[in-house]
Amino acid sequence: ELTIRKAVFPVAGLGTRFLPATKAVPKELLPVVDRPLVQYAVDEALEAGIETMIFVTGRNKGAIEDHFDVAYELERIQADRGKPLDALKGTRLTPGNAIFVRQQEPRGLGHAVWCARDIIGDEPFAIILPDELLIGREKGCLAQMVAQYEKVGGNLVCALEVPMEETPSYGIIDPGARDGVLTEVKGLVEKPKLGTAPSNLMLPGRYILQPEVMGLLATQEAGAGGEVQLTDSMAKLIGKQPFHGVTFDGERFDCGSKLGFAQANFALACRDAAMGAELRGWAKALLG
Ligand code: G1P
Repeated sequence: ELTIRKAVFPVAGLGTRFLPATKAVPKELLPVVDRPLVQYAVDEALEAGIETMIFVTGRNKGAIEDHFDVAYELERIQADRGKPLDALKGTRLTPGNAIFVRQQEPRGLGHAVWCARDIIGDEPFAIILPDELLIGREKGCLAQMVAQYEKVGGNLVCALEVPMEETPSYGIIDPGARDGVLTEVKGLVEKPKLGTAPSNLMLPGRYILQPEVMGLLATQEAGAGGEVQLTDSMAKLIGKQPFHGVTFDGERFDCGSKLGFAQANFALACRDAAMGAELRGWAKALLG
């Protein structure tokens, strides 16, 4: 089966790094310019042809469900005022195609993905981590990966180079042969100790996986940080199924950190059609 219809969005994280902003507002709803982070993730999935969006949520995440629902009063008021509804584009998901499941305990990314197992069933699926804002040059990251999936099938992870000293923060690829944007994955390690990483190719939170990973997650023992790691179960698929890294053509903003989040806001605002020129001029004057 070489089409991907379903995507999982793990959005149960507490977002403690952004307190107090995230006390009552899910971190995935923090805006970059004028769109919440999770909207960028859903737009990326829609562009890649995904039909069913599965959000793995938790307590205090109800606002995400409202965000992707119909807002009758708002739409009505905007229409009555003769205002265009473009600003709400991508927020009204097709009935039945936005599914919310809860991760009841913070047991790690692997456990969050496993919570979607019955909705995924027996088909390949995508995973998008909304904290990682990836802006593709010509097309979005997941669309770039789907194009490769149509050629090689199996399992695909996005692969990005980071400075060696940052490798302990991420899932890291042990790379084999490279062919264009595809790199063979020979091994995967989650958060390697400094100086032990097999490469500087990190996983920036985009995956296309075969459903067999769900069975592995069901019995996956806790790994790095005492959490059930997706990386550890993916590693068990290597050698049994094709597994490739896809080099991403575009920019990455780590919106799980305040610095990355500020950079994303600044960079995207600078490109905004309505305010970009003025903001750039203001920033130049500010910085002397
Ligand atoms: C998770 C994954 C890791 C990946 C990272 C990307 O880690 O476990 O493999 O590289 O996201 O941001 P976390 O940031 O949740 O610790």
